[in-house]
Amino acid sequence: MFGIRWNRDSILSFIDSHIIDYPTPINLNYFWSFGSTAGLCLVIQIVTGIFLAMHYCPHIDLAFNSVEHIMTDVNNGWLIRYTHANGASMFFIVVYCHIFRGLYYGSYIYPRGRLWASGVIIFLLMMATAFMGYVLPWGQMSFWGATVITNLFSAIPFVGGSIVEWLWGGFSVSNATLNRFYSLHYLMPFVIAGLVIVHLSLLHKDGSNNPLGINTNTDNVPFYPYFYVKDLFSFFILVFMFSFFVFFYPNVLGHTDNYIPANPLSTPAHIVPEWYFLPFYAILRSIPDKLGGVVAMISAILVLLLLPVINTSKVRSSKFRPIFGLAYWFLVSDFIILGWIGQKPVETPYIEIGMGATIFYFLFLLVLVPVIGIIESKMVENRDGLVNVESTEEDELYFGQIPDSSKELSTYESLNMVHPLDKYFRLFLVPELEPVYVTRFTNVNFFITI
Ligand code: HEM
Repeated sequence: MFGIRWNRDSILSFIDSHIIDYPTPINLNYFWSFGSTAGLCLVIQIVTGIFLAMHYCPHIDLAFNSVEHIMTDVNNGWLIRYTHANGASMFFIVVYCHIFRGLYYGSYIYPRGRLWASGVIIFLLMMATAFMGYVLPWGQMSFWGATVITNLFSAIPFVGGSIVEWLWGGFSVSNATLNRFYSLHYLMPFVIAGLVIVHLSLLHKDGSNNPLGINTNTDNVPFYPYFYVKDLFSFFILVFMFSFFVFFYPNVLGHTDNYIPANPLSTPAHIVPEWYFLPFYAILRSIPDKLGGVVAMISAILVLLLLPVINTSKVRSSKFRPIFGLAYWFLVSDFIILGWIGQKPVETPYIEIGMGATIFYFLFLLVLVPVIGIIESKMVENRDGLVNVESTEEDELYFGQIPDSSKELSTYESLNMVHPLDKYFRLFLVPELEPVYVTRFTNVNFFITI
């Protein structure tokens, strides 16, 4: 009808163009493996989840014991459960690395804005799925975590109370709540899988970014076998790390209180979420107002959607953005500090540190991203050096040498390498030195001058 023939050849050519002969930039480093490892985590969660569901009972009187039954009676049940529980943590580690890779290399910058936005939505759904999954074993943390988080909706003016009761299906977290959380926890990973397909279509529309952040269309290689083996190696590293937790420290990432059956009459001394929620939990608690805290926590994720819009830098990779590169590492440290604060009691000095870290988080994403972009662009313009991407036969001949340069080359320059501190020294201390970053591609030499 639409002129598309879904015969064997078109299916094969679809597979071929997306995962076999897909043109991939030649210079992708291992940080580009986090996307496919995230995909592997999703598959592991779905497969182990389906097996767990065969023995789990979503009823408040049976849930806790059914999990213990899986652990002790079901053949290899302990392995399936520990893989699923630790798999959630591995998934978040991988996705956090994936997001921070995107931030460092400017993968959110045009033309990948919609790709980035699809990622943020996937991330939100992942958080909802993990939250509902944690309620299912019906331990103390399951119950009280669910109570605290669902209660946040009561901060919504006028309708908050009704929304919370609607979410609970009663007047407290109860059997109805457990049932619907189970149903949604089973459903959501498939929705995420669908969104991952959208994510990949958006990626393949414009192609991958790369560590240099420049257009490498002239120098792509087929995905298979080059990045197939590279990703395969990353899979092995993930499985190795994963096995370390599953076989040696299966409970280290969880909370001991969740081995106590849920008791609505006894509140645990400290209610803490799983580690991967801690930075956002810290933001929630650092605002001394319930509604304000909820708004801040949700905004902490939604603000990521603004990045493609408020970015002012034409240079993507932080390798060529000295000020942004520095600020980026402050953000990484800030995020780790927020995670630490999220598990501390609400008292001095943790309250103040949490507030400072929250302010920096928003300052970075709302103010520093556009402002640093403007400052760096001005610095480049002032040096009349502007971005200079050219390749001549002479350059090829004198590959590695700066054309028309009378200067003696340093070891790093003659080896075509950039000293890690080069960008700071060159941009700030000796600007007259003309920094030239040379990268060897198979058939073109790029000279980028900033
Ligand atoms: C279930 C979770 C996710 C899966 C399975 C997934 C999968 C992938 C895959 C396979 C790639 C290509 C390989 C790579 O560049 O690493 C990719 C690229 C990308 N993803 Fe994701 N992703 C997920 C979540 C996210 C999130 C949460 C974000 C951002 C908030 C995001 C943003 C991006 C961007 C910007 C790229 C392009 C990177 C570039 O070319 O530089 N993804 N994703």
